[in-house]
Amino acid sequence: ETGIYYLGGVGLFLSANDLQMGRGEPIKDTARVLSRYLDGIMIRTFDHEDVIELAKYADIPIINGLTDLLHPCQCLADMQATRSYFGDLKGKKLVYVGDGNNMAHSLMYAGAKMGMHVVIACPNEKKYRPNEEVVKNAVADAEETGGSISIVEKTDDVASGAHVVYTDVWSSMGMESEIEERRQAFAGYCVDSKLMSKAAPNAIVMHCLPAHRGE
Ligand code: NVA
Repeated sequence: ETGIYYLGGVGLFLSANDLQMGRGEPIKDTARVLSRYLDGIMIRTFDHEDVIELAKYADIPIINGLTDLLHPCQCLADMQATRSYFGDLKGKKLVYVGDGNNMAHSLMYAGAKMGMHVVIACPNEKKYRPNEEVVKNAVADAEETGGSISIVEKTDDVASGAHVVYTDVWSSMGMESEIEERRQAFAGYCVDSKLMSKAAPNAIVMHCLPAHRGE
């Protein structure tokens, strides 16, 4: 909303309670109606398919403001911020420590496009590892830019020479019932001074926020 305002526009924040979707209106109807009023929609939701459905029936641009699968605007801003520290990002190492979630996915995509070497350190169980199709796509992007994507389980030397060390919460929004199980699964996946001691001297630490200190 702040960004749109600074650019001379007006942003409307519509929560589920402000929309007919909140009482079960099909997404396609909301898409058709809002397309007549607005110049674009940023949607922040859980199910990625809802964004696809909205984009299919809207005839204005649809921007993904967060789904369980991807968080592209966050990573676009992260790349902009990272570039302000390091200039050209080609060849720089970005390490993400934690859940192989929406953040891991979008960082792989963004890092690959910038020619970065992206390393995801996460537990080996399928539910904590990144989506295989996303990894495959990001690897293909990285091959074109000279970057690379790798997924590792161990964190011992993972930050070695890293320029960017990134992490996220262990239980994303909507995963409240898994908090205890995840706290155990991710116990070894902390960004702490030990992990950072191997990073490049000018390394930066990033977090999409909200951060849970102690994790
Ligand atoms: N993985 C987090 C990102 C929050 C910006 C979540 O989906 O809750």
